[in-house]
Amino acid sequence: LPLAPAGADGDITFHLDPPLAIEDEGYEVSAAPAGIRVRASGAAGLFYGAQTLRQLLPPAVERGGALPAEVPMSWTIPAVEIEDAPRFRWRGLHLDVSRHFMPAAGVKRLIDRMAQYKLNRFHWHLTDDQGWRIEIERYPRLTQVGAWRDGTLVGSFHNRPHTFDGVRHGGYYTQDEVREVVAYAAERHITVVPEIEMPGHSTAAIAAYPELGCTGEPVEVVQGWGVFEDIFCPTEETFAFLEGVLTEVLDLFPSTYIHIGGDEAPKARWEERPEAQAVIQREGLADEHELQSWFVRRIERFLNERGRRLVGWDEIVEGGLSPTATLMYWRSWDDAPLRQAAEQGNDIVMTPNSTLYFDHYQADPAGEPLAIGGLTTLEDVYAYEPMPAFFTDTQAGQVLGAQANIWTEYLPGQAAVDYMVWPRALALAEVVWSQRDRRDWTDFTERLPDHLRRLDMAGVRYRQPRGR
Ligand code: ACM
Repeated sequence: LPLAPAGADGDITFHLDPPLAIEDEGYEVSAAPAGIRVRASGAAGLFYGAQTLRQLLPPAVERGGALPAEVPMSWTIPAVEIEDAPRFRWRGLHLDVSRHFMPAAGVKRLIDRMAQYKLNRFHWHLTDDQGWRIEIERYPRLTQVGAWRDGTLVGSFHNRPHTFDGVRHGGYYTQDEVREVVAYAAERHITVVPEIEMPGHSTAAIAAYPELGCTGEPVEVVQGWGVFEDIFCPTEETFAFLEGVLTEVLDLFPSTYIHIGGDEAPKARWEERPEAQAVIQREGLADEHELQSWFVRRIERFLNERGRRLVGWDEIVEGGLSPTATLMYWRSWDDAPLRQAAEQGNDIVMTPNSTLYFDHYQADPAGEPLAIGGLTTLEDVYAYEPMPAFFTDTQAGQVLGAQANIWTEYLPGQAAVDYMVWPRALALAEVVWSQRDRRDWTDFTERLPDHLRRLDMAGVRYRQPRGR
């Protein structure tokens, strides 16, 4: 194609060319003395072409705001021909806003950086034991009660005895704020995937509506960390509640994928309570694990009937995995759920605890702020290969991509989140975008300082890489 006819020398032109033989999100950039041309067959591709142009300009472009007229400025882009497309279609980052709330402005700031680095799925972990963070009009107590806790564990979970700071913590997003974040992300070609946890990690909801738990006894929004035994009771009242919540969630989030959690649901209450045992009897289920599977499938049917798809943590294999669910694989110490999903033909998103948990330490804990544990260096992230070596070609096609998770037990605010996410998310961005044979650690480390300057310009308080 010629440059757009109206263009003068030095123009940057964008061409949407549906028949272009590169994938949906792919693009071509051609930079020559006469001008710069970006071509793509879809809007996302043009957007990514623009992000690449941005990277070809000096880091000062990230500063934002108008330049003083008296500052002489000349920015050049090297003459290049680029043809580029992503390796994976799910390039995700997850943020837990339950353990520590992050106001919508902070979420948008994270979305800005994701867009800059061509990440396209923001998994918003909106509910958990320590706080319910999304306004649901049908159930106002979720945010009146469930969004607030009376204190937070001080220091490490491993310290005994546990002490709490006594400081009320909480917050939530109004539906208007949710719509705004979803639209903001969509403008940047990012799909927001909401997560509503069930049947476990639901103490905050049960604190708001005790009848949702099997005991009906009052519970408090949790102030510490871990896995808790008060989970949703599988009664008709609970399903009516969850369907009411999901109805509002589907209205707010256009995402095809809706995450329903499914992880870490202890079965103690279901074992001891007649309400749960009655469902096992009625449905002819073998045990509480099959009850979990039945629970998840019932919710999946609700989503499917409304044109959506269920995604859940890998515990959704428990008691039988639905053939149409998407599995988010995180328990990297046990590959049985991964194998099961692969053999059954399920779609998979890789988010292994061993490498893509950005709440893990980045270096020797002695020199680092308190974290949950683990050790995942920048180089570890960069070296991560999302495709399991034992997958067949067919199974490889089921891997949608990969995602890093930001759990915030030990990340009380923006600066703490920045420190854990950057620059590791730069490595993630390359893992999920670039072809495997194009990844080169030495080359990455040489390109890194330029990107750290960009993060500086954007006010991101990243961790300065300084080895192990
Ligand atoms: C998880 O880390 N519980 C998904």
